This record gives sequence, C-alpha cells and structure tokens, in this order.
Amino acid sequence: MKAVILAGGPGTRLRPLTCTRPKLLMPIANRPLLDWTFERLSWAGVSEVILAVNYLAESFQQYFGKERYGVKIKYSREPRAMGTAGPIKLSEKMLTLDEDETLIAMNGDIWCDLDFSMLDAVHRKSREKGGVATITLYEVEDVSRYGVVELDREGRVKAFVEKPGGKVRSRLINAGIYAFSREIFDYLEARKMSMEREVFPRLAEEKRLYGFQHKGEWGDIGKFEDYLRVNFQVAEALAAGKPRIEGSAEYNSTVKFVPPVILGENVKVGANSKIGPYAILGRNVKVGESCQLTETVVFDNVEMGGGCLVKSSIVGEGVSIGDSVRISGGSVIGDLAIIASNVKLTRKVYVCPRKEVEKSAVGPKRLV
Ligand code: GTP
Repeated sequence: MKAVILAGGPGTRLRPLTCTRPKLLMPIANRPLLDWTFERLSWAGVSEVILAVNYLAESFQQYFGKERYGVKIKYSREPRAMGTAGPIKLSEKMLTLDEDETLIAMNGDIWCDLDFSMLDAVHRKSREKGGVATITLYEVEDVSRYGVVELDREGRVKAFVEKPGGKVRSRLINAGIYAFSREIFDYLEARKMSMEREVFPRLAEEKRLYGFQHKGEWGDIGKFEDYLRVNFQVAEALAAGKPRIEGSAEYNSTVKFVPPVILGENVKVGANSKIGPYAILGRNVKVGESCQLTETVVFDNVEMGGGCLVKSSIVGEGVSIGDSVRISGGSVIGDLAIIASNVKLTRKVYVCPRKEVEKSAVGPKRLV
C-alpha cells in the first residue's frame, strides 16, 4: 500500500496558531497530528507516503525528513492551491504504485483510529465488483457540515451529497479517508478540482463508488473546538486514571492533579496548583504557585507566573505569562506572545504571535 496525504491547506480557522505551523503539525497529546497518522500507516504496512504540501511546506520537511517509522516520505509541492483532487493527480508521477496495489488518500487534518489494512481489505472486495474507490464513512448526528452518503445493501454508494441543505436519509458522512485503485487517476485532472463535488458524484453515478463504515474514533481538527475535543479524547484514552508524565516532572504533594492530565517532559508545577481535568502540558512548561488549568492545551516552553487561571483555552509555544492572569472561554494565545500580570482575556480572544498584551480584553476579538 502507498498513501497520499493532503497537507497543503493554510488552516485559516486555526489562526493564530497556524500562522507559525501547518495545521497537521498541531500537537495532539504532545505529538504532531501527522506523527500519529504516520504511525498507523506504518502499522498497516504502508511503505511510501506522498505529502501534498503547499502552505509552510518546509516545516514538514524539517520535522519528518525522508522517513518516519519505516515509511518513506516524498513531498509534492503544488504551484498553487488545487483543492482535494488536483494534488492527488499531481502526485501520480511520484508514486510507484503496482497494478493491483491500493492507494490510500486522506485529508491530513483528521484524527482517526482506523486500521488502514482493514480499509484495504474492504476495497479489494469492492474492486471485485467494479469499484474504483472506497470511502471511509462515519455516523454522526448532524450531517449538515459534511458530505452525506447513502449505501445500498452491497455497500455501494447510491448517492453522495456534499453539505446537504435539506433533509437526508442517511447519517453516514464522508470521513475524508479513501482507498483507491490505480484507475482513479483516469478520473482526476491536474487543476483545482474537488474530490467531493466532482469526482465522487461521478463515480457514484457510474456505480463504482463503495463505502466502509468506521466505528471507532474519528474527528477533524478544523476548528478550535474540534482541536480541543480530539486532544481531550486522546487524553481520556491515555491518562484517564492517573496523570501521564512523559519523562521527569517537578511538583510537590500540595499540587492536585485531576485526570485526565498529560505532562510533557521536564514540566514544573508550583505549590498548591490544580491541574485538570483535561489539561495537556507540553515539554518544559513551567507553572507558578496556586494556578488552575482546566480543559486546556499548553504547548511547549510556556512559562506562567503564580495565581493564574487558564480554562477552555489554548496557549501557544514559548508564551510568557505574568502573575494573576486569567485566560478563558476559548481564547487562543499565539506563539511567543507575552501576557502581562493581571491581564484577563475572556471569551475567544485570539492573540497574534509575539504580541505583547498589557490590557484585559473580552472577545470575540483578535489582538494583532
Ligand atoms: P481552513 O483554511 O481553516 O478551512 O483549513 P484548510 O486550509 O486545512 O482547509 P480544509 O479544512 O478544507 O482542508 C482539509 C485538508 O485538505 C487539510 O488536510 C488541508 O491541509 C488539505 N488541503 C486543503 N486545501 C488543499 C490544497 O489546495 N492542497 C493540498 N495539498 N492540501 C489541501
């Protein structure tokens, strides 16, 4: 098996954090999202991945180089944005795909515990019935944000409707992970082209599109709420019972941990602080005395004074926070920002990277 991962989007909805890193390198429980995906691909025996990059392309090369977990990595850089199908066509010439080998393609901003070899096995069965593509499907309550898929008894896609406005009969949505046969390239063009709006409806009409329902965990990290939800889900799986401490940590018996809590390497927590529930702290984070951190992700190398409260928010890498600061209500602090003592940032205040904040603010607003 080989794979193509779409990794080139600018991730505008996650600004300011995506001003300084691509969305796929956002940490999930202290590891970039894409790193988790590489691990799963390697478990399934995928030998080569083409990363379709564009925005901040060099960050991927710097982080992953030419190989990860035994998976060879090649980079396909687009001259301009090409949607969800164009980049896959562009990668064709870089792929060494055997005649009957499956190509996995996916939106890179998805967290999922799918076993890719299972998807391959299902696709091989679809192929025997003339299938060119098998889409991973996921059941959700509210389908309106997604592509909705109706299946027949044989697992063939009867209809594919992108972001339906009206009523639909199915709760199964396109999970953004596909298995393709080589023939898919006959349906793709090297221009800005949409898989969901152009390719899948045509394949469905030709009865060559199949579906496979995934019943484990799934979610994209498109918006801050989604990003936090995925982190908390992983924290529950890794650290539900007691704090997960990755390496050494410094704290005394007055510190209260309420799981799930994850502490990166070399975290220091001051006396009488309360960490959790749902707190993920990156490497070298220093928290002062009597702080409270809940429902929060703190990136690497953050320093925080005493008496701070951080709730339902995200603090970017290398941020420096004074004493008695309150950050809450879905606020997001960009990398290397400096927040002065006594500042209160309430309700969706987004602080740009390196910004020095000296006054309190109530959002929604951006501090540029
Ligand atoms: P927003 O700007 O916040 O909508 O995020 P995004 O730029 O990531 O767009 P979207 O969420 O629609 O993208 C879903 C997946 O496709 C992500 O993994 C993106 O990196 C990827 N993607 C989106 N557009 C392109 C593109 O033009 N080229 C490539 N190679 N990948 C893309």
